[in-house]
Order: sequence, then C-alpha cells, then structure tokens
Amino acid sequence: MASSMLSLASTSPSSSLSLSDNWKVKTKIGGFGNAFVKTKSFGRTTMAVALNVSRFEGITMAPPDPILGVSEAFRADTNDLKLNLGVGAYRTEELQPYVLNVVKKAENLMLERGENKEYLPIEGLAAFNNVTAQLLFGADNPVIQQGKVATVQGLSGTGSLRLAAALIERYFPGAKVLISSPTWGNHKNIFNDARVPWSEYRYYDPKTVGLDFNGMIDDIKAAPEGSFILLHGCAHNPTGIDPTLEQWEKIADVIQEKNHIPFFDVAYQGFASGSLDEDAASVRLFAARGMELLVAQSYSKNLGLYAERIGAINVVCSSSDAAARVKSQLKRIARPMYSNPPVHGARIVANIVGDPALFKEWKDEMELMAGRIKGVRQKLFNSLSAKDKSGKDWSFILKQIGMFSFTGLNKSQSDNMTNKWHVYMTKDGRISLAGLSLAKCEYLADAIIDSYHNVS
Ligand SMILES: Cc1ncc(COP(=O)(O)O)c(C=O)c1O
Repeated sequence: MASSMLSLASTSPSSSLSLSDNWKVKTKIGGFGNAFVKTKSFGRTTMAVALNVSRFEGITMAPPDPILGVSEAFRADTNDLKLNLGVGAYRTEELQPYVLNVVKKAENLMLERGENKEYLPIEGLAAFNNVTAQLLFGADNPVIQQGKVATVQGLSGTGSLRLAAALIERYFPGAKVLISSPTWGNHKNIFNDARVPWSEYRYYDPKTVGLDFNGMIDDIKAAPEGSFILLHGCAHNPTGIDPTLEQWEKIADVIQEKNHIPFFDVAYQGFASGSLDEDAASVRLFAARGMELLVAQSYSKNLGLYAERIGAINVVCSSSDAAARVKSQLKRIARPMYSNPPVHGARIVANIVGDPALFKEWKDEMELMAGRIKGVRQKLFNSLSAKDKSGKDWSFILKQIGMFSFTGLNKSQSDNMTNKWHVYMTKDGRISLAGLSLAKCEYLADAIIDSYHNVS
C-alpha cells in the first residue's frame, strides 16, 4: 500500500534542522518502529520514505464473523441447491428479502410531508421514544405513567445493548453480566468491547434439546449479588427455547432475592408469537414487580428494518428523578460515540405505531410473517418424522419458537450440512427458519437426517 509513502519530517527539533541544506534527519514516522524508514533530501526539505512496508504491518487479519461470514461463504457457492439458513433475516416463500407494505406506506407519507434532514437530539426522535416504550410496557403501564422509564433511541438492538454496556461499565464498576449459554454471538463481543466482565449461566440442555431450568436458576443464584442478568425477552437466540410464564416468575424470584438487575434483550417482539403483547409478557412481568430493569429493543426483525439501525435502550428506575439522571448519562455516552442517531427508521416506527390504521396493518403483516415461519417449522418436523426411520423424536423442533431452530447438530455435522448439502448455517447447529421455504423442507430434512446419523 505504502510503496512510496512520503512523510514530511515534522517533529519540532528535526523540522527546524530539515531546513538546513542536505541534512539527513532520521525521523520516526509511526508506531511500528523506524526500521522501515529511509531518509531522503529533496532540495531544502528532508523527507522520510517508507519503502514497500505498510504502517499497519502489525495488524493481523481478523477472523470472519461467525454469523455474517456464513452469508459470504453462501454467496461464493455456485451450487443451485444452496440454502442460506445462517443469518436471521426474513425471506418470502420465494426466499427473497421482504420490505413490509406498511413500511412502504409510511415512507410514502414521509416523502409527501417533505420532512427535513436536520439532526435529531442526542436521545433520538421524541415521538419514537414515546411509542417504543409504550409498545414494550403497554401504554397504561404505571412505569410509563409515572415517568420511570429512561428511553434513548439506539443504533438498533446492537447499539442499544452497547449503550447499556457502557452505562454498566461506568456506573457499576466490576459488576458482572451473566449471559445464557449459548447466546447470540454478538453479546460477548459487546461486553468485551465495553470492558464489562461476564460469565455464563446454564440454559440449553443437549439431552432434551430443551431448557436447563434448574441449571439456570442455580447459576443465577450463585452469581455475585447485584449482577446484571441478560435475558432474551422472547424467541431465545440461538435455541428458540423460552421459559414458560411460571418459569419466568421463578427466575424473577431468584433475581429479586439476589438483588440482581434484569437486563432484557428484546429483538423479536411480535415476531415470535405474532402478538406484540404476548412477546412482551416476560418484560412486563418483571416491571409489574416494581423491579428496576434494562431493556434493549430492535426493529430489525419485526418491521424488517435491518439496515435502518433502529432500536432503543430503556432503563426502568424506581423514581422519575433517577430515570431523568440515567437518561442524561446515556446521552453523555452516546454523544462522543456517534453524536445522534439516524432519523429515517425512527420516523417509520413513529408513523406506523402512531396511526391506528397503519398499526393494525403492521400487526397483520407481522402475524403473516410469524405464521409463515410456523408453517415451515411444522413442515420440517413432518418431513423429519416421516423420513427418519430410526425412531428419533424430532418434536423439540415444534416446541421452539421464533425464527431459529436449534437442531442439536454438532460442529462436524453442521460442516457436513454445508460441505455435502450446501446448507449454510452457524456451526452451533442453529438454522434460521425465516430463510426456509415449504418447498425446501424435504431437502433440508434429508440433509439433517444424513448429518445426524452418518457424521459423529
Ligand atoms: C438476541 C439478539 N439481540 C440483538 C440483536 C440485534 O440485532 P440488530 O442490531 O440488527 O437490531 C439480534 C439480531 O440478530 C439478536 O438475535
């Protein structure tokens, strides 16, 4: 890259020297030592020249992202049978990306109104922040009525989680975050980058391909008092296994006993069951107990606004005064990171939720998407049960919820899915049913049965 990089010798002692004729001044030009630097004189000015060596020589190649890297590998495969079940993005029955009709309508309205592109405040669009908290907790929830929720628009789910992680790092030094094992791949990156210590609690039981409820409870009990417990509000990623409402009550009991702080990640509200209220039941159950809690929200999946980066962080506090202070500090964290959030997605959400006709249309469309996923889940189960003569019970697939299914396939078996069958998926055995069509269920069942029985 820098085969002829020139750098004016400019450190103060040497730059004064460089003005004298033909003085050769050795100047450091970077953080990787000066072994690569030669000096040259150009008339009265001395230049340092780096020859064929990058100043970034010390930077090693980062590994591909385990989720987004799957799509790159998929694109490179030329086989017609290939199937991308890696990334969690909704596809139509024809396996095409989908823009919701209600989103197009909201965008047309925005164009007609000729809204400007001025900066938003640091905390985001006020109309968005109002409706997003109402969607989550319910408009008549006392925490909203009493102004106890600090809501700040974030860069989708990821950015909102990252803001909360920075708040924890700054105001709860040394506090641990407990994350489910397994979890969405980016959780660990987020807390690592924010320098927040984390450990795992048991969640998935490979023997039952179900929830290890006792393990989960024991690990939450054993965590140091005052830990943050990261919980998937609904449609746990990657397992698709959620606690029942009775189990949520017990989880809340233990968290309260131990003075922990619940931290919900809600990336699939309305997309899991088809109902916004049903999918927020876990969060509302905790809020109803008067607990302080954090909730990160995303509109990537339920409104298909993946690239608009729209979401929010909500912190429920025990008083409106505390909420105001928390909000002020969230803004203080956001300002040097990205200054203020993007407006487009926020306006889409605010316009849809704020208009009864559009809101109803969204709910209908969401039910349709959730329904299509339930349909392929059922067909995959039927195909597996009909084709697999070994007597294996595949009913765990039907018990899972949301866009993912955790197949129980190990890494070698998942590799076989990709190498032999051209089915792209994450190596933990997760498949995205949102990327599957009814027409491809039989093929996928053949691939799973082969991988499960013929690869150890
Ligand atoms: C559990 C979970 N949290 C958060 C996110 C954040 O997604 P985004 O940043 O696109 O909103 C995802 C996306 O897959 C997820 O599965």
